[in-house]
Amino acid sequence: MSEIADVQRYFREQAAQFDSIYEGKGPVLRWLDRKFRASIFVRYALTFEHAGDVTGKRVLDIGCGSGRYCVEFAQRGAAEVVGVDLSDNMIALARREAERLQVADRCHFLVDDFNHYRPDEPFDVVIAMGVFDYLREPEPWVERMVGVCRGRWMASFPKWDLLRAPLRRWRYRLRNCPVYYYTDERVVQIMRACHLAQYVIKDIPGRGQDWFVCAEVGRTPA
Ligand SMILES: C[S@@+](CC[C@H](N)C(=O)[O-])C[C@H]1O[C@@H](n2cnc3c(N)ncnc32)[C@H](O)[C@@H]1O
Repeated sequence: MSEIADVQRYFREQAAQFDSIYEGKGPVLRWLDRKFRASIFVRYALTFEHAGDVTGKRVLDIGCGSGRYCVEFAQRGAAEVVGVDLSDNMIALARREAERLQVADRCHFLVDDFNHYRPDEPFDVVIAMGVFDYLREPEPWVERMVGVCRGRWMASFPKWDLLRAPLRRWRYRLRNCPVYYYTDERVVQIMRACHLAQYVIKDIPGRGQDWFVCAEVGRTPA
């Protein structure tokens, strides 16, 4: 089986479990998630902080999962939000959440591999949170993301560390799902290779957390 098929199968099986990190667990599990999966909450807050005012904007969320970011963008006034994800179960959750929060008219969800997605128009904001974890070759992806972006580009990259990264990789390997990690030098190398000159990299503190990266597409260095 290809790696993409492995990732797709994994997130089909894990859709409800993953979404429960955002809500739906008891206080102890919620506390554990806040402590050991802090990145999920910090990168969410950073994304909206760095997106600024999205009123009337077009947003693309790649690997949107259960659509938590998509519905938030729509609630903040985005004119159109497109969420693309490999997992049909994730997209089913995303559609349900958009209906529940009455933003389904501005949210469009597609079950697809981003490698096959060809939008007609570029987007003002393009994000991929928690997705580079599963990509063997990040540069072509960043280039494709940049190619559909006319504004702000944001992504998270899981940090390499000697303790939690090998443990997580081993856990995922048991379920036949690949996981990749990044040093800050590697993230800078990717930005350079993709000609992104104006960007910030934020270190989400703690072992096993992420680098959060926000770039301006089409801007030359100051
Ligand atoms: C850890 S989840 C993150 C979901 C969401 N971005 C969030 O942070 O709440 C990663 C998601 O990326 C999706 N994904 C991975 N590779 C993908 C690809 N090639 N095309 C589209 N989605 C992909 C998976 O199916 C999964 O739902």
